[in-house]
Amino acid sequence: MAKHKIGWMPGDGVGIEVMEAAKLVLDAVGFDAEYVPLDIGWEYWRTEGDALPQRTVDGLQQVDAALFGAITSMPKEECQAALAPELRRKGLTYRSPIVRMRQVFDLYTNLRPCKAYAGNPLNFQDGIDMVVFRENTEGLYAGVEYHPVEGVIRDALNQHPNFARFADVPPDEMAITTRIITRSGAERIVRAAFEYAKKHGYPTVTIVEKPNVLRETSGLFLRTAREVAREFPGIEMWDTNIDAMVMWLVKNPQNYGVIATSNLFGDVVSDLCAQLVGGLGFAAAGNIGEKVAVFEPTHGSAPKYAGQNKVNPIACILAAKMMLDYLGEEDMAVRIDAAVTSVIAEGKVRTYDMKGTDSTLEMGAAVAEACGHVAV
Ligand code: IPM
Ligand code: MG
Repeated sequence: MAKHKIGWMPGDGVGIEVMEAAKLVLDAVGFDAEYVPLDIGWEYWRTEGDALPQRTVDGLQQVDAALFGAITSMPKEECQAALAPELRRKGLTYRSPIVRMRQVFDLYTNLRPCKAYAGNPLNFQDGIDMVVFRENTEGLYAGVEYHPVEGVIRDALNQHPNFARFADVPPDEMAITTRIITRSGAERIVRAAFEYAKKHGYPTVTIVEKPNVLRETSGLFLRTAREVAREFPGIEMWDTNIDAMVMWLVKNPQNYGVIATSNLFGDVVSDLCAQLVGGLGFAAAGNIGEKVAVFEPTHGSAPKYAGQNKVNPIACILAAKMMLDYLGEEDMAVRIDAAVTSVIAEGKVRTYDMKGTDSTLEMGAAVAEACGHVAV
């Protein structure tokens, strides 16, 4: 029997190709796993009305971790139009499967390391080494939304003095998305960030919110963070507003180490951090809960490049590396990181985003080959 059971979810578009490249690397380090293919993506939305079929949810209960490629998701109207004719007008609504997996499995940590590998021509600056901890289950992603705004919800809002300005807006000319922050949600993501900083020797954790305006939600997040910080006297806690933070990140990215924030701010800030170290071709994420974890490159399915064997698989390879870390296969993870480091530093194999001409699989093969001889 294989040592690990891994859910294998290539999904849509370039997800399929980058997963193939990552598999070359997993094989090269001798990762002992049974791979369980799991259905996910646009195809299943169109034909079954569910991009994350129940059989995939069941399958995820049976694995130790999963690797996920990419999915196509679209706004409301396009989703309806894409449905098979017999599924239309049944009230089916598309919800991003990755967002659902995060919620169904309570994958509350979204861990996004952003490190500038030396020699990457796309680095904004060298020496950047940040790790974003994005709360992954609540905030503006909780999915509690209203349109039209009427009935008891409207009545409740009418109790709030600041709602008076909107009192005359017709129900269907208004939409509401709630931002739900809980103490326990804030506490566990901030604690995960501090623990990571402690384990990996980062001197600071920066809390990124906006408590001067979002007084209640960001206020609760920050108050909770201050309490957690007291448990980690060796690590300094900084707090910065989201708007100022994106400015500082462009100005002085080397100043930052671990960053902890709520869901949408983390979504935004982590794309910025990713771009500082080479863009989405280098950005990997772990969606980590107590029972299972799903690792992914953070890029989308890039339909215009699908099937061209063109995009950079390094993000997916780094996602695989994070998965090995999570599974306790740290030696293999270190070898993959060293192999990526050496392939980038050598600069002989480069995909189009790095101004090269090598393909997805050529990059995968180069990293796989380097795993065999890098010194760690
Ligand atoms: C991400 C992505 C997702 C998100 C999308 C695909 C729903 O942008 O993982 O950052 O918004 O969380
Ligand atoms: Mg995002």
